[in-house]
Amino acid sequence: MILGVNVDHVATVREARGVTEPDPVIAAGLAIRGGADGITVHLREDRRHIQDRDLKSVRRNVSVELNLEMAATGEMIKIALKVKPDMVTLVPEKRVELTTEGGLDLVKTGRKIKKAIDEIHGRGIPVSLFINPSVSDVEMSKELGAQMVEIHTGLYANAKGKKQTEELNRVKKAVKKGLEIGLGVNAGHGLNLTNVKRIAAIRGIRGLYIGHSIVSNAIYMGMEKAVKEMKRLIREGVRK
Ligand code: PXP
Repeated sequence: MILGVNVDHVATVREARGVTEPDPVIAAGLAIRGGADGITVHLREDRRHIQDRDLKSVRRNVSVELNLEMAATGEMIKIALKVKPDMVTLVPEKRVELTTEGGLDLVKTGRKIKKAIDEIHGRGIPVSLFINPSVSDVEMSKELGAQMVEIHTGLYANAKGKKQTEELNRVKKAVKKGLEIGLGVNAGHGLNLTNVKRIAAIRGIRGLYIGHSIVSNAIYMGMEKAVKEMKRLIREGVRK
């Protein structure tokens, strides 16, 4: 199971001052030293954290899988085709949200998503759709032509007790369906050192995509150690 580390929030700290440090590309290098199998950046339409130059720089300097998270807009598709990340994850984007709040609404935006998949995958870049843990959304992702899905684990992460087990079961069902119909299945959002193991224990997940918790722990213990610790727990979960 691979770990993709999202370094957006390193850029969030930098942008709070409008200066040049901390640098998300240096953080990405340290994350790789700690064992990250991939690096994710989300180039948002409002450029609130990652900037276009960061994306170009990670592409030039990072040798592991580069996952570009983006909205399915004409501007972003153009950028993706130019930068050529190793994969693109399409996410919904609202200007006022603090972070990506839910999966894509495939019923409302399916046509736009399909067009984006056709353009991006047509140029050889695999596309993953960030979706809610729903069997019908997994099926629809396949119909739209996606190569992968990323199951939204935010509801699981925020729930407690019995409700958390219910949310975990929704994630499990979605993963199972994705594997049955031949999709690569990833998961992410809200995962941290206390909740990652139960997700890592789900058979067949290709990769976990984690940002906030790793960047937070990096402040306490350094990026390398924060990634190592997350990898250790993922391995423990996988072994279960
Ligand atoms: N996956 C997707 C699609 C996301 O939008 C985000 C947040 O940028 C993450 C994973 C990582 O979530 P978190 O920062 O809560 O670990």
